Amino acid sequence: MNYNAKAGDPSRQRTPCLVLGIFSRRKLSDAAKTVDRASSGFLTSILKKGDMDGEPGQTLMLYDLPGTLCERVLLVGCGTQKDYDRSKHSEAVGKAISKLNSGHTMEAILCLPALAPATTDLYTQLRDAIIKSNEATYRFDQCKSDPKPPKRPLKKLTLLVSDRKALKIAQKAVTHGQAITHGINLAKDLGNMPGNICTPSHLAEQARRLGRKSSKLKVKVLDEKQMETLKMGALLSVSRGSRQPAKLIIMEYHGGPARSKPVVLVGKGLTFDAGGISIKPSPAMDEMKYDMCGGASVIGTLAACAGLELPINVVGIVPASENLPDGAANKPGDIVTSMSGQTIEILNTDAEGRLLLCDALTYSERFNPAIVIDIATLTGACVVALGSHATGLLSNNDTLADEILEAGEHCNDRAWRLPLWEEYQKQLDSNFADMANIGGKGGGTITAACFLSRFTKKQKWAHLDIAGSAWRSGIHKGATGRPVTLLTHLLLKRSNQLK
Ligand code: BES
Ligand code: MN
Ligand code: ZN
Repeated sequence: MNYNAKAGDPSRQRTPCLVLGIFSRRKLSDAAKTVDRASSGFLTSILKKGDMDGEPGQTLMLYDLPGTLCERVLLVGCGTQKDYDRSKHSEAVGKAISKLNSGHTMEAILCLPALAPATTDLYTQLRDAIIKSNEATYRFDQCKSDPKPPKRPLKKLTLLVSDRKALKIAQKAVTHGQAITHGINLAKDLGNMPGNICTPSHLAEQARRLGRKSSKLKVKVLDEKQMETLKMGALLSVSRGSRQPAKLIIMEYHGGPARSKPVVLVGKGLTFDAGGISIKPSPAMDEMKYDMCGGASVIGTLAACAGLELPINVVGIVPASENLPDGAANKPGDIVTSMSGQTIEILNTDAEGRLLLCDALTYSERFNPAIVIDIATLTGACVVALGSHATGLLSNNDTLADEILEAGEHCNDRAWRLPLWEEYQKQLDSNFADMANIGGKGGGTITAACFLSRFTKKQKWAHLDIAGSAWRSGIHKGATGRPVTLLTHLLLKRSNQLK
């Protein structure tokens, strides 16, 4: 979809459809009042008939309003005015866009009520609207023989604001929002793609494709032989049980001064996790195709960075592999040596994500990072602890943790911090190696992060466990694209684009 911004009087817009908000008890929003006046009270008289009273979820399509230039007006319920907040706004946008996308209008102007400045600034509200309308129109039908797309999908959405000053803000929101939605859609597409198509080599090829599109993005892919030379014994042990070769994808985005330290993002790219010899139970195992969503979010975020040409250096690293049972696969009790030299006793072959990540994190040291953030669908325990709304956050640096929490809060892609106390480290003790790859009973998300912390001692590092937030199960099964928004926002902020 194409987005743009415009300043003007809602009643003077020539468009196939103008979207206006109505509050509970038929209360008109400011824009609706303007249109009502221009149409000599037409809206008021229609609302009096009682088809709509402004409750959230309601919509009403009107045609040929007198005194206006638009073909249609779509009224959208916004709920009580005093409770109109970000989530109500987002809900109203979603409802309106779904309605338009399945209807007959391919272009529309969105003119929903502005939130109180104390709640959210205009930039954020408009960027939210773009991200939400992208969500409402996203489809993944690449694998259907007859996809039956909407006959007349919404193609162009204009955000209407009141004046020139607001227009500048709106244009920025459009530019940023559009780049973020590209990143989100890329991450979702990669996540939703089945494991037989989205292999480590496929992920690598998608990263290379991005590299070809942007002169500032350099993509390099290491094969197993090169990883052997680097002594990535932990990572390679996971892929030994699979016929698909592992790949280490390295994406270097050079947008900032050559000497400025990069933000390094490391994303788990397990294109299918059957558990290995410690095999997973069958129910819902298909969802383990989503075990590469961390990697997909890194690729999506780099796409957004490159799209915006952000003046900052960012490195994305995606260790990609499958985890399958096989005669050559890891066995419980096996001991491997990581690139850092530390040895690991593999007590459960299903705790494979950390085996990939530890070597990728050691590799990241060569970029002399300002900060390192890894993103991974790492533990089922995170889903138990936080459910699907919050991403788990663990960090060895309070300033970085706060920066991430704030970014998540700002774009409603929220994270919640868990402790990384020394006491938990003992759970990783092994009788035979430097550490075990599992922490036993209790605190599974924390002990997984404790494991990673042993490979990031020299770094300002944070770990995002997206096991609950990266995809939805059930009838709405699908990747969410999280946390592309959070990460891109953090990079926008770090590169001073939000002034
Ligand atoms: N990819 C899984 C984590 C996962 C499970 C994410 C379910 C989302 C839903 C990871 O590789 C894994 O299997 N972790 C194990 C660790 C355990 C063996 C210590 C888990 O969480 O069960
Ligand atoms: Mn696993
Ligand atoms: Zn996994």
